[in-house]
Amino acid sequence: MSSILPPSTRVWWNQPLDRVEGTWIAIALIWCLAMFFMMPYWHIFGKQNLSNEAYRVTAEAYGKKTQEMVDKFTVRTETELKVPVVRPPAGGDVYLIARMWQWWPILELEKGQAYRLHLSSMDYMHSFSLQPENLNIQVVPGYEGVYTITPTRAGKYSVVCNEFCGIGHHTMVSNLYVVEKGQGRTGDDGAKDKVERKNERGEK
Ligand code: CUA
Repeated sequence: MSSILPPSTRVWWNQPLDRVEGTWIAIALIWCLAMFFMMPYWHIFGKQNLSNEAYRVTAEAYGKKTQEMVDKFTVRTETELKVPVVRPPAGGDVYLIARMWQWWPILELEKGQAYRLHLSSMDYMHSFSLQPENLNIQVVPGYEGVYTITPTRAGKYSVVCNEFCGIGHHTMVSNLYVVEKGQGRTGDDGAKDKVERKNERGEK
């Protein structure tokens, strides 16, 4: 669409800039630059954005890497689905699979150790949300995101899918354990867990 009448002066862009117009352009430019430089500033000083690496990966290759870790470092299983709880060596690589509608496996990490957490999806887009921490990471199929994390507080965390991924989205929840140094694998926690689970099944 165009206006009904042609402009009275064809070459309108040669007119001198009005003071008000110039002021608004200057304000807009300064604000744009402020927002632009806030992005790197906030990344470094805001303690909010994660520094991550991302690599292309196929579901098969990622599944294989995760399976290798599970085969080596599983310490027990949980729930009736027998989800392996994996305790990889402190400071190493840990893999977590997101798929409809499960997080696999369950990770058990040591407090105060830096881990490289790998996240990828086997099917559609999911989102790794760690509660009660304020952590929310998109998990995308075809890409392997790597995040260097250091758990600072021991306890049982919840992993929640935060991206609508279909009919079972609300059931896509799991746990993540952070244990004190030297605890877990053969320590009291594991033994206690075994006793509790035996009791659940009515065994002695
Ligand atoms: Cu996975 Cu929602």
